[in-house]
Amino acid sequence: MKIISIAGARPQFIKLAPLSEKLSENHEELIVHTGQHYDFEMSQKIFLDLGIRNPHYHLGIGSGSHATQTGEMMKALEEIMIKENPELVVVFGDTNTTLAGALAASKLSIPLVHVEAGLRSYNRAMPEEINRVVTDHVSEYLFAPTESAGRLLKGEGLEDKTYVTGDIMVDTIKMSLPVALETSSVLSDLDIDNRDYNLLTLHRNYNVDDPLVLAGILKQLDNLGELIIFPVHPRTRKMLGEIDVSLKNIVLTGPLGYFDFIMVENSSKRIITDSGGIQKEAYILKKPCITLRTETEWVETVEEKWNLLVDPSDPAICQKIHSFKAPATQKKVFGEDVCNKMVSVIDSIST
Ligand code: UD1
Ligand code: UDP
Repeated sequence: MKIISIAGARPQFIKLAPLSEKLSENHEELIVHTGQHYDFEMSQKIFLDLGIRNPHYHLGIGSGSHATQTGEMMKALEEIMIKENPELVVVFGDTNTTLAGALAASKLSIPLVHVEAGLRSYNRAMPEEINRVVTDHVSEYLFAPTESAGRLLKGEGLEDKTYVTGDIMVDTIKMSLPVALETSSVLSDLDIDNRDYNLLTLHRNYNVDDPLVLAGILKQLDNLGELIIFPVHPRTRKMLGEIDVSLKNIVLTGPLGYFDFIMVENSSKRIITDSGGIQKEAYILKKPCITLRTETEWVETVEEKWNLLVDPSDPAICQKIHSFKAPATQKKVFGEDVCNKMVSVIDSIST
């Protein structure tokens, strides 16, 4: 089959890596990079770390308002889809790249696979929520990462299209952690080998786009009284330039490569984040996770008490972090051998 896989943002490259490797063994798989993320560390570095083939098309769309970014992607993707005439299109997650790929493919009646289907935060202030709902409802093949995502899709009348495959990030981290342990020097580069530290990431619009909100979160976390390593997302970096906080316990770095990042996760004491993917990685690596949000799509991690939701406006963030203890055991809610399950569904599609 001729397949087009579409990715454009950091977490999508991480989801694409194992699937693309496997798909390209028996199919003609073309990678299209929309260019939504373009800084070296957000894009090329992840391709290099994970050995992803160079994209066949790079659209170079870059940043913009939601409609501009999504619209420009759709126009360019439609042209490529008409030219290449693929039998299947694959999109990942819930970004504007996902939405653009889903709309362009479905309007051309090209069967669409949505990897990471069936997630909801029920918070429509998140652009991602709109992207997920639309993508699920125009897809032919819904790859649900968890049983609860599968149940949700059934509740929305999409049972016939749903395959509970598990979460592809399980495969990425499994193939990458041994390499990271072997090759990454990030702990000594950051001078944190043999030190107790927390890992922090923030990039959700409602946490970082308002300078007062971002400054409030950082001031509170700086009072945790513990070292915090904070690899800063470019969206957050932009806003940090506009606020004036002096931090004594939080150490800022640029975005890290994937191997370095999972290394820092793996050696951390706990993870504080608002990222979707990092909540999952915290669970997979058995790290207590504090999520600075009022809701999450990854409900199992909270139900199992490995993840604690804390309202970012709560004045008691530090007390809640200090008193949170993760349990001794966990289930494998994200499954295993995920890529093979996805590829066997794709292999069985007759065109
Ligand atoms: C996007 C996704 C979000 C995902 C996140 C992963 C949407 C609506 N959001 O958010 O779901 O969790 O990626 O990281 O699709 N910028 C740079 N360099 C880059 C990329 C971005 O400087 O390489 C800056 C630009 O100022 C840009 C801002 O970051 O305006 C936001 O980028 P954008 O891709 O629109 O959204 P993210 O916050 O990255
Ligand atoms: N990540 C990375 N370097 C960093 C921060 C995160 O490689 O400095 C990886 C992380 O391991 C995870 C993914 O990026 O796999 C999460 O992406 P992000 O937080 O940008 O987006 P989200 O998952 O919230 O959509």
